[in-house]
Amino acid sequence: MDKLLELVFIPCPGMGHLIPMLETATRLASHDPRVSITFLVMKLSSDTKIDLYTRSMASALGQRVMVQYLPQQDEPVANNPIEYLIKLVESHKPDVIDAVRDLPRVSAFVVDMMCGTMMDVARSIGVPSYVFFPSNASSLSLLFYLQEMHDRYGKCLTEYADSSDMLDFPSFVNPLPAKVLPSVMIIKELMDIGLGWTREFKESKGMLVNTFVELEAASIKYLSDLDVPPIYPIGPIVRSKTVESNSTSSPGGSHAEIFKWLDNQPDSSVLLLCFGSIGSFCKDQVKEISIALENTGYRFLWSLKQPPNDTDVNIPDDYPSFDGILPEGFLERTVGMGKVIGWAPQAEILAHRSVGGFISHCGWNSILESMWFGVPIATWSLYSEQQFNAFLMVKELGLSVEIRIDYNLNFNPMLVQAEDIEKGIREVMKEEGETRKRVKEMSEAGKKALQEHGSSNMSLEKFIHDVIDATSC
Ligand SMILES: *[C@@H]1O[C@H](CO)[C@@H](O)[C@H](O)[C@H]1NC(C)=O
Ligand SMILES: *[C@@H]1O[C@H](CO)[C@@H](O)[C@H](O)[C@H]1NC(C)=O
Ligand SMILES: *[C@@H]1O[C@H](CO)[C@@H](O)[C@H](O)[C@H]1NC(C)=O
Ligand SMILES: *[C@@H]1O[C@H](CO)[C@@H](O)[C@H](O)[C@H]1NC(C)=O
Repeated sequence: MDKLLELVFIPCPGMGHLIPMLETATRLASHDPRVSITFLVMKLSSDTKIDLYTRSMASALGQRVMVQYLPQQDEPVANNPIEYLIKLVESHKPDVIDAVRDLPRVSAFVVDMMCGTMMDVARSIGVPSYVFFPSNASSLSLLFYLQEMHDRYGKCLTEYADSSDMLDFPSFVNPLPAKVLPSVMIIKELMDIGLGWTREFKESKGMLVNTFVELEAASIKYLSDLDVPPIYPIGPIVRSKTVESNSTSSPGGSHAEIFKWLDNQPDSSVLLLCFGSIGSFCKDQVKEISIALENTGYRFLWSLKQPPNDTDVNIPDDYPSFDGILPEGFLERTVGMGKVIGWAPQAEILAHRSVGGFISHCGWNSILESMWFGVPIATWSLYSEQQFNAFLMVKELGLSVEIRIDYNLNFNPMLVQAEDIEKGIREVMKEEGETRKRVKEMSEAGKKALQEHGSSNMSLEKFIHDVIDATSC
């Protein structure tokens, strides 16, 4: 009889990490009847989106992916979001032990990159662990590179944070500005955490990475030549379901109204502006964006959110209304031409035929989504990891245009001027642009990677095979 695989997935409680992990779980279980998965979620009292999302996935999940919430613990006290997460993970270890005790024989753990210490639990019950890395191979290779520089050669990594050096990095064509290195490795308060994560990766049996060979051949090759566990490029994993916003007072209209409006626009004519769950702007910046939109005259859909008042843990919320936020008369002048909305179902909007360009903060999930739907991006990077993404997208891969890459670790970037935004808008909306062509090609390549005998399809098959091998001795 064929072996049954019982996998335990431990995601990090943030949508950007949880979604690709749950999509992967679903894909694994629906692909192979021998696989069943228990998906253990740490719940934050402040976050309702995770709940809505897992519920919206319920019908796709079937019986072989069980989403189980761990008991809620006291909210940890921490100085920054990363430290908060570390403490949260630690506090849930006993709950994972309890949850696993009730399961039939577990074959392996799959833990999010930020939950590496959960491998302790796997070890304690003699089960192998794999790491789920929701970002791409380039950033993974940088983590390994920096850890090696530090641990083996005694390099002081924090020097990079203030450096204007350009680094030659083995798997990149262009020199990389030191300041866009992953902040978790070069900021003093975070460095030990980043190093700890990376050392944990090396203790795993292998790493599932949300990328595909056709996109990142050089970095994947680089990783496979390192003395690190095997890499399984299994992407592009993009969300298949959108979380319905449950707020009754969404400014700018309900989702039905948004899509009705999109339905009435010509093909590839609308610019989407959406800055992810952590992106919000001060009033002066909102004004610069408004001016650029009016000046360029393109149709637009703009997801505009309120800055949180405690940036450590909170994420931006919808404005109750845009009164006093947008410049005087902006909404009236742009009636028919564009819409300002609150929280946006980004993937569904990008999938709409009328969307032709996207201004994004360039988180990896957003990049993959826009690529999946063949929509070119103008990069507007808010934080350092995203600056690195933008560097790769613009310089290395030619898959997006640049509004401005802010090589600045300061969490309060300077004002981006309307002219710079306008330039980016015109560039990304260009009908016959080279970027648009490249994005379409990569979109095709990504879809092929997931089909039968495609690179990521084979890689996921290999993962299943390797786990079975590892458990059969
Ligand atoms: C939205 O919220 C209400 C009340 O908080 C709840 O009863 C309802 O089930 C929620 N809708 C969805 C789609 O979850
Ligand atoms: C913080 O946010 C809450 C809820 O959105 C709001 O009621 C409160 O006024 C804000 N506090 C400050 C200091 O802005
Ligand atoms: C890889 O991910 C990083 C961080 O999430 C991102 O900045 C970068 O653009 C991504 N790589 C590519 C090839 O886009
Ligand atoms: C590979 O592709 C085939 C054909 O689409 C599909 O049936 C199978 O489930 C895929 N395998 C994985 C591991 O996703």
